[in-house]
This record gives sequence, C-alpha cells and structure tokens, in this order.
Amino acid sequence: MISNIYKVFFLALLFSAWKIFSRRYLHPLSRYPGPFLWSVSRASYATAYAQGKLHKRIQCLHDQYGDVVRVAPDELSYRTEEAWKDIHGPLRNFPKDMRFYHASKSKAPSVAVAPDSIHGRQKRAILRAFSVSALQSHERLLRPFVDTLVRMLHPTDGKKENVVVMTEWYNYVIFDFMAFELFGESLHCLEKGTSHTWVDMLYGSIKGWAFLSQSKYFPSLSWVIKAALFLFRRDLLQHRSTKFTSVASKVSAESVSESGDPGFGTYMRAADMSYLHCVLQESLRMYPPVPLGMPRVVPNGGAVVSGQFVPENTSVAVASWATYQSSSNFKDPQLFLPERWSDTDAGGDDVKGALQAFSMGPRGCPGRSLAFGEASLILARLIWAFDLELSPQCSNWADQRAYIIWDKGPLLVKLAPRS
Ligand code: HEM
Repeated sequence: MISNIYKVFFLALLFSAWKIFSRRYLHPLSRYPGPFLWSVSRASYATAYAQGKLHKRIQCLHDQYGDVVRVAPDELSYRTEEAWKDIHGPLRNFPKDMRFYHASKSKAPSVAVAPDSIHGRQKRAILRAFSVSALQSHERLLRPFVDTLVRMLHPTDGKKENVVVMTEWYNYVIFDFMAFELFGESLHCLEKGTSHTWVDMLYGSIKGWAFLSQSKYFPSLSWVIKAALFLFRRDLLQHRSTKFTSVASKVSAESVSESGDPGFGTYMRAADMSYLHCVLQESLRMYPPVPLGMPRVVPNGGAVVSGQFVPENTSVAVASWATYQSSSNFKDPQLFLPERWSDTDAGGDDVKGALQAFSMGPRGCPGRSLAFGEASLILARLIWAFDLELSPQCSNWADQRAYIIWDKGPLLVKLAPRS
C-alpha cells in the first residue's frame, strides 16, 4: 500500500517536472525572455493580480527583460507602439481572450465582447451617439450638472475654503449625467453629496470581475476561487504642488485668451484649448484609467507582433502602465509634462503613438470624444472657479493597487473660490 502511494507521488513529481521542463525549454514561446517561475506557471501572474500589483510587477519585468516578456506559460506582454497596431489595429484586430473577459450567456452579447459578426452592426449603431451633432446635444445636458458641481463645491457658512474628496465629486457629476442620458433621470448624487448604490455596485463588480477572470485560468480551482469570493468578498459580487499651480494658471489663462471670456462656453470649445488638451493627454499617460493589458489571442496560423513571430493561441497584451512609464517611449516618463504633447519640441523624441488609453482599431473606445469633452469642460470650469491644492496627506495618492481599473483612495483637495 505504502509503496503504491510512493509510486503515485513519484509519478506526479515526474509529470510536474516534465511539464516545467517542457514549458520552459520546449514550448514555442521558450525563446521569449521572462522569469523562470512566470514562464512555467501562471501562479506568479495570478498572485500579483490578486494583490493589485500586476501593473508594477510587469513594469519591472519589462525594465529587466525588454519590450516583450513572457509573463505566463502562454502569454506575452508588450510595451511598444508597434504592438498596439499589430494586436488591436484595423488590419489585425485579434480576438479577445475570453478567459479575461466576461461574456453573458444571453443571446445578445454586449458590444465589448460580441463576436466580430455581431460587433460591427452594434458598433455602427453606437457610433451615431458620438457624432459631432450628438456630442453637442450631450453637452447641453452636461452643462447643468457641471453648474451644480461648481455650486456644491463652494464653501458654505462664510468659510474661505473647502476640503473635499474630489474622487467622489467627479463620480457624482459623471454618473448623474450618464444616468440622465441613459434613463432620463439623474441619480441625484450631486445635490445630496452622496454616492448611489449603483455607482458602488459598478466599481465593486469590476473588482469582482478581476478576480473571477483569474479563476478561468485555473479551471480546476475555479470553484474554490468563486467560493472564497462569495464567502469573504460578497460585496464585490453585489456592489461593491508647484507644478500643479503652473498648469492651473496656464489652463485658466488659455480659457480667457482670444475673446476675454471663459473659453469653455461649450465643451467642444474647451476641447479646442490646446494646453488643456495636453494636460488631459499627459494625465492619461500618468494615470491611465485601464493600467493593465487587455489580452487578445493570436489567431490560427500565428502572426508577427512587434517584429517577431508569435504562434497561434498565444495570449498577447500591451501593458499600458509599463508602456507609458517606459523611458524607451517617453523621456523622463515619471514627470508630468503636458508640454510633451504640444507642437513645441518638448516631446520631440517621445513615441506618442505608444499612448492608447482608449485602445485602438475596430474595438477601440467610441466614447473618446465624449470623455475628452466632459473632462475638458469640468476641469476648465473648476480651474476658473477655484484655486485647487492637493492635500499633503494625498501626496502619494497615485501609488495605488489596480484591479483592471485603479483601486482609488479618497483624493482630498483644498478648494478656495477665486475672487
Ligand atoms: C477616460 C474615459 C475612457 C477611457 C480611458 C476608455 C477606455 C476604453 C478602452 C481601453 C476600451 C477598449 C476595451 C477593450 O479592448 O476591452 C473601451 C471600450 C469601450 N468604451 Fe470606453 N473609455 C472611456 C470612456 C468611455 C465613455 C464615456 C463611453 C460611452 C459613453 C465609452 C464606451 C465604450 C464602449 C461602448 C466600448 C466597447 C467598444 C467595442 O468593443 O467596440 N467609453 N474604452
């Protein structure tokens, strides 16, 4: 009996050793650089993911191994502009890795995961909502919400300044506006100064999705991960400086230039303000809303990605954070330099196409212009109305964990109305 147990144990050991050896040395991806543990098992990747530190770990791996790294037995991570075009661009547009994405079982898949045969029709319908004339009508609806935001942020009771949790107020204005657009009724977060269950649910469900998607990479452990999530994080399944001063003064100076009026009468107009545009671009680079890669699968026959052949069925992703924080793409990547996006020479050597915060190609974000319009109008109005100062206790605020999107802490900002 005991000798049989030894035999089984020995065979299991042999099998594991063979699997490790073959993944490392015989696998079609074995010629790609990467750390030993990451290339023989997905455990290191999943652990970093569960800790919310994957974006930083992958950034370190790229700094150590170069522009392409084998981050799991069947997955490559990239940080080049070429990889964006090869994986997401109009000519290639590899299918999404459905282990990462969540497809509902209904017959009407959402546009984000619909197969190509359905996606084109859905996307054409959606794009109509983002035409220039549609954007103008969105803007008419947005303006009253921005007025309320500015009014609510003014200090009361004769105080000269107000310290507010800016992350919350940005949520209130955007979700009130979006709810009004979609359902014809605001969530009334702005007037009440509190969040709405739906907003908490949305953020919670994205975090829940982050964990559930990892469970799909380990089919035999999938039920354990789901049970743990259900038992311990049920909330996720239900809901859930000097530089700054100079940037603010340039944006507000730009607002009054030309006509002497605040230049943000409309967000289309605000979006035309070039320095403001540079500030938003640089913010997307420094704090990309989706800091992790969005994995796609190399189709049958394999394909060339970033200059090297990749076999079929390999999962490939451009690691946004690592790409935007790499000195191979941006000079002094850790510095917030809006000027690098201007027509001056400031960002002359930067690989600007490496920044694709809205992704690109047929599956790229249709909401890009609306998002820029909203952000431009809100930022221009705030800087026109207030002097903003980051609270010292938030100086490391951007050092966050990420679960698909950032796990944001409260961003405390001191607002003093401008005279
Ligand atoms: C700063 C704001 C935003 C950022 C950074 C952003 C980013 C992205 C990214 C990276 C994707 C690609 C996802 C993937 O490949 O899996 C995407 C897709 C999408 N986004 Fe956005 N987005 C933003 C705002 C918006 C807004 C305001 C809307 C609409 C009101 C919107 C609607 C969509 C839709 C419908 C898709 C799916 C497109 C498709 O699969 O063809 N986004 N977005």
